[in-house]
Amino acid sequence: MWLPVVMDLRLPILCLLIVAEVSVGLRNVRVTVPTAVRKGDSAHLFCDYELEDKERLYSIKWYKGKREFYRYTPQEKPSMKVFSAVDVERSLSNESNVVIKALETNVSGKYSCEVSADAPSFHTMIVSGDMEVIEPPPEKPSITGLQSRYRPGDILRGNCTSINSKPPANLTWTINDVPIIPQYYKQYRPIKDTHTGLETSILGINILVAHAHFIKGKLKLKCQATIHRIYDESSEWYVEEDRPRILATGSSSGHNLNQIYQHTVYDGDQPDQSDMYLTVNGYKADKSPTSSSSATKQVGAYVKVGWIAFYVCTICTVLLYSLRVGIS
Ligand SMILES: *[C@@H]1O[C@H](CO)[C@@H](O)[C@H](O)[C@H]1NC(C)=O
Ligand SMILES: *[C@@H]1O[C@H](CO)[C@@H](O)[C@H](O)[C@H]1NC(C)=O
Ligand SMILES: *[C@@H]1O[C@H](CO)[C@@H](O)[C@H](O)[C@H]1NC(C)=O
Ligand SMILES: *[C@@H]1O[C@H](CO)[C@@H](O)[C@H](O)[C@H]1NC(C)=O
Repeated sequence: MWLPVVMDLRLPILCLLIVAEVSVGLRNVRVTVPTAVRKGDSAHLFCDYELEDKERLYSIKWYKGKREFYRYTPQEKPSMKVFSAVDVERSLSNESNVVIKALETNVSGKYSCEVSADAPSFHTMIVSGDMEVIEPPPEKPSITGLQSRYRPGDILRGNCTSINSKPPANLTWTINDVPIIPQYYKQYRPIKDTHTGLETSILGINILVAHAHFIKGKLKLKCQATIHRIYDESSEWYVEEDRPRILATGSSSGHNLNQIYQHTVYDGDQPDQSDMYLTVNGYKADKSPTSSSSATKQVGAYVKVGWIAFYVCTICTVLLYSLRVGIS
C-alpha cells in the first residue's frame, strides 16, 4: 500500500528541486500600485523582491503599459534613468520606490515592475498592477425634481445627479439613513462630455410614500456619490408629511382640481366678464335639470288635480240629477 505512493512522489520532489535550483537567485517579486489616486496627487509605486546572498541586483525597470519610464541600475552612474512617458519625482524614487507626481488622468493604466538579477543568472521577473487616476466631480451631488411635502399614497420621484467626473460616480439613495433597494431606483446611463471625457451620473428614485416613512412628520432622503475610496460626498433633502386633514379634503380633489383648472383657464382668458359668464353658466348647468324636472312634476300634479276635479264634478252631477229625479 505505501510503496506506490512513495514511488509516485519521487517525480514531483525531483521537479520541485529543479525549480528551486533555477529560481534561487530571485524570489517573491511583488508590486504595490495604488488602484485609485486623485488627479493632481502623487502616486507611490513599490516593488519588492528577494535576492540570494550570492546574487546582486542588476536592474529594476518600470513600465507604463509597454513603455519603460524608469530604470534603476545600481552598478551604473547615474543609477537612475527616467524616461519621458511619466513624470517621476526623482528625489523620492530609489531602487524599490517610484513616485509619480501631479497625476493626469491619462496616466491611468497598467504599471509593471521588472526585476533582473546580475550575472551569471540574469534571472528576470515581471509583475504588474493597475492604477486609475480619478477626477472627482467639481461639486456635491444635487437632488432635483422633489417636492417639500408628500402625503401617504403619493409617488415620490426625483433624481440625484453627480456631474463631470472620471470615472462616473457611484450613486446611492437612503431614506432615513436606510439604503433603498435597487428596485426603487431608476438607473440612467452616464452622460459623457465629448470634450473633456468627464461623465455625469444620474440615479432616479421612485417610491410610494407611506406613513411609516415619516419620523415625527419628516422623511430624510440622502444621495451619496462615491468614487472608489477617493471621493465621498452626499446631499440631503427633507420631506414633510402632509396632514390627514388635507388628505380628507383630498378625497374630492379630482373634482376640486377640475374646477380650479377650469377657473384658471377662464380667468386667464377674460378676467372680468368670464367670472359672471361662468357663474351664470354654472348656475344654469346646475339648476336647469332640477327645474325642468320639477316643472314636469308640477304639470303632472295639475293634470291629476284636473282629473280628480273632473271625476268629482261628474259624480256630483250624477248624484244631483238622481236626487232631482227621486224628488220629483
Ligand atoms: C526609497 O525611498 C522611500 C521613499 O520614497 C524610502 O521610504 C525608502 O526607505 C527608500 N529605500 C531605500 C532602499 O533607499
Ligand atoms: C498627459 O496629459 C498631459 C497634459 O494634460 C500631457 O502633458 C502629457 O504628455 C500626457 N501624457 C501622456 C502619457 O499622454
Ligand atoms: C430625471 O432625469 C432624467 C434624465 O435626465 C429625466 O428624463 C427625468 O425626467 C428626471 N426625473 C425627474 C423626476 O426629474
Ligand atoms: C461602483 O460600485 C461597484 C460595486 O460596488 C464597484 O465595483 C465599482 O468599482 C464602483 N465604481 C466606482 C467608480 O467607485
